[in-house]
Amino acid sequence: MNININDIEVIMKENILNWANKVIYQIFPRSFKDSNNDGNGDLRGIISKLDYLENLGIDAIWLCPVYETEFADAGYDVLDYKKIWSTFGTIEDFKFLVEEAKKRNIEIIMDIVLNHTSNKHQWFLKAIESEKNKEHNYYIWTDKPGDEESIFGGSAWEYVPSLNKYYFHLFAKEQVDLNWESDFTIDAMVDVIDFWYNLGVRGFRLDAIQHVHKETNNGNFSHSFGSKMVEYLQKFENKIYETKKDVFFIGEASGIQPNTVLKYAQGKDKIADNFYNFGSWWIGWGKETGRNGYDANWKISDFANPAILEYQNNKEIKNYMITNFMSSHDTARSISRWGDEKLFWEESAKSLALYQFSLKGIQTVLYGEEIGLKNPIFHSRKDFRDVDALNAYRIFVDEKKKYTEQEMTRFHNINSRDNSRIPMVWNKKENFGFNEGKKTWIKKSGYYLNSSVEEQERKEDSILNFYKNIIKLRKKFSSVLIDGEAQMELLENEVIKVTRFSNDQKIVSLINLTNKEKTIDSFNNREILLNTYSDKKGIENILRPYQSIMFLEK
Ligand code: GLC
Repeated sequence: MNININDIEVIMKENILNWANKVIYQIFPRSFKDSNNDGNGDLRGIISKLDYLENLGIDAIWLCPVYETEFADAGYDVLDYKKIWSTFGTIEDFKFLVEEAKKRNIEIIMDIVLNHTSNKHQWFLKAIESEKNKEHNYYIWTDKPGDEESIFGGSAWEYVPSLNKYYFHLFAKEQVDLNWESDFTIDAMVDVIDFWYNLGVRGFRLDAIQHVHKETNNGNFSHSFGSKMVEYLQKFENKIYETKKDVFFIGEASGIQPNTVLKYAQGKDKIADNFYNFGSWWIGWGKETGRNGYDANWKISDFANPAILEYQNNKEIKNYMITNFMSSHDTARSISRWGDEKLFWEESAKSLALYQFSLKGIQTVLYGEEIGLKNPIFHSRKDFRDVDALNAYRIFVDEKKKYTEQEMTRFHNINSRDNSRIPMVWNKKENFGFNEGKKTWIKKSGYYLNSSVEEQERKEDSILNFYKNIIKLRKKFSSVLIDGEAQMELLENEVIKVTRFSNDQKIVSLINLTNKEKTIDSFNNREILLNTYSDKKGIENILRPYQSIMFLEK
């Protein structure tokens, strides 16, 4: 059968639009469910919770890396792209996961770490064995290191005594940057996609894609959006498209801005179908030290900052081009960062959900957000597992003496990535049902009333049921909440207003992310679709603390 190029474009476009309908659930596999009681989550654990996920209403699971690894950077240091880390199970488990997920109409999204490999990867071992080995060219080398810095702190160059040379690593020294100049790298990554595609995977998160081309211009080093990035990535993707039309690429380019999404999500420079919307992830981070610090002066208006407004209000930015998230494995828990963990725990968690789901774009929910999971309490340096958090102690406490040990611990309790990597809270039993009691690999959540899935399933107005409702509403009003246009504004009293509309329908969200009452226009006679307060009192023209509503405007 001959399919002409226009038909192919139609098929590919339909596939993208189909992905735009989805709600993605992000799983950090080590912490979701431990099926064999070894203290670590695993694939069998995830499989055992697929009914729960189906019931929640999600359409796809983004699995953080599950490949063989030393876990130096939580699996983003891959030892073998085609093997499942034995702690997580086997390839048979993975096949079973895909099969069981498909039965429930749930897609699996693999996290493709294409910028770097582990320093224990076979290729790197060969690369340092001899400069004559072809693998040597898979990586980036110098005799004279410059002062380029790693994103995780310290020099980006690491010395290899046997070669008397340095290799480049943008992240941890255990993550060696691949040389994308070499066609081999590209082919190797195409082969990785082939492998998972053949096992039924259609969605791919392309990790750290803005970094594949590093360059120095007029003495200035740059590691993001290099001049050959598009060329490299298009070579890679075009090879994939030769045989596969139904793949979906979500690009992870941290800190990307709306105009850059417009450039790279369509047209001649397209490198991904969709990008994560990083508009809010920095809110409350230290001005100089990012997530390794804390800025108590963050403002509610930051949730309607220029980038966020642009994503929503610019009609050129289509819903399928961006993926919104409140928390990820690279942030702390949203409720602890921006909500009220105590008095208004449920209302503020629901308000953050309502805010996210009012936005144009695909929605991603990090495991645990649907039950308002909070940051745990880390007492000292030894409680942390994340390489970035530990490096921060070394650099900002030990070396630069910018923070005291206690300060760093305090900041990490607010913003560290480890907060989002803690065991899921399933019930009130030992280790909250994560396993049968074996010590967990990372700190657990504290106990608080109604915090578990089991309790929240029973409580009609729980955060969990709020998420279920909001996901259902998104589907019921898909022409507005998924495909509709968006208009977002910050009202004078800090209430955020998001209007979504299609030709014949309009849905308005008024979001109060503060612990204060807010006066609004009376919305009597409106059909309320969602309300973060479960009683029917009030709501005439006052929003109570963290009260947010979504209503149908006739
Ligand atoms: C991405 C991942 C992050 C990881 C980094 C290096 O930003 O989301 O967790 O540390 O890439 O792979």
